Amino acid sequence: MFVYFSLWAFFCFSFSFFYNLSTEVRAHEHNKEDVYELSESREVNVYSYRQPQLIEPIINAFTEKTGIKVRTIFASKGLIERVAAEGRNSPADLLLTVDISRLMKGMQMGVSQKVRSPVLEANIPKQFRNGDGYWFALSLRARVIYASRMRVPQNTITYSELSNPEWKGRVCTRSGQHSYSLGLISSVIAHEGVDKTRQWLRAVRGNLARKPSGNDRNQIKSIFSGECDIALGNTYYMGLMEIAKKDTGQRKWAKSVKILFPDANGRGTHVNVSGMFMVKDAPHPKSALKLMEFLSSEEAQRIYSGVNFEYPVNQNINPSPRVRNWGELKADKLPLDHISKHHRTASELVDEVGFDEGPY
Ligand SMILES: [Fe+2]
Repeated sequence: MFVYFSLWAFFCFSFSFFYNLSTEVRAHEHNKEDVYELSESREVNVYSYRQPQLIEPIINAFTEKTGIKVRTIFASKGLIERVAAEGRNSPADLLLTVDISRLMKGMQMGVSQKVRSPVLEANIPKQFRNGDGYWFALSLRARVIYASRMRVPQNTITYSELSNPEWKGRVCTRSGQHSYSLGLISSVIAHEGVDKTRQWLRAVRGNLARKPSGNDRNQIKSIFSGECDIALGNTYYMGLMEIAKKDTGQRKWAKSVKILFPDANGRGTHVNVSGMFMVKDAPHPKSALKLMEFLSSEEAQRIYSGVNFEYPVNQNINPSPRVRNWGELKADKLPLDHISKHHRTASELVDEVGFDEGPY
């Protein structure tokens, strides 16, 4: 009897030993998977055309929340070309940039990859992301008209009106070949066709106060100094000038100017974007996707609008109070993919009409 009992006890012990062992093995295998996933998710490398003072607060918030380390390289030029040259050896996971033309360039050069994410699709309206997931916008930047508070009584305007004779010698702008100008001209082509855009551009050239030059802030300065009465520019420069250091004079210049949202009662104001894409051979695609989703989240979007006075792409977030003060933005509804197809034609038209040579 004792022998039977011993055999039974030995059998039970052995079974439980081997069962536990095999469970441990399974658990270990599972842990191995976790470890793999963790090591993939520990870091992400970002190439950014956007400046550190805007990106760093957002990235710090991401690292604090997820523990994922972010390495960032900042440069104002050549990052897409660098990723292309590095090819499969590129350490870059994610590229951050301003301007639709650069987002399109990444796609056309085969540097970006398709990303499908229900989070990104929920946070970013369709017109502000590529249909196949090759790029996603993160913030909107309206191309508005700065107008002298003293010399321009009207509070509404259209882009088309810029060609009217009443503005003769009163319009300032930066170069027609700058990507901000080309974005706007592309949208005019998308709405009005090439011939009408050519006529319009010729007439606007005739209304210029001087040769196109300087950046958007310089146009505001030119209105302040009386050189012109209206100018084209992006909204956020007003915000940046309103909070500029007192001794730079920028606050004074900004005070002399109001913002008119062109075509607010019609097709809507032209907006360009800042945005992102995942690099084709991203070494850390999972962590890169986490960062992309975070950048579109309400938390990050609030930082975008608060720090740089841009419009959040996530429609659950309001623009900052300073931005709301300028009036309501009704953005052109045409998808940016559609507008940016005309970039090359826009650039050719600028040359053809001699826009950058200034008034006739
Ligand atoms: Fe800018």
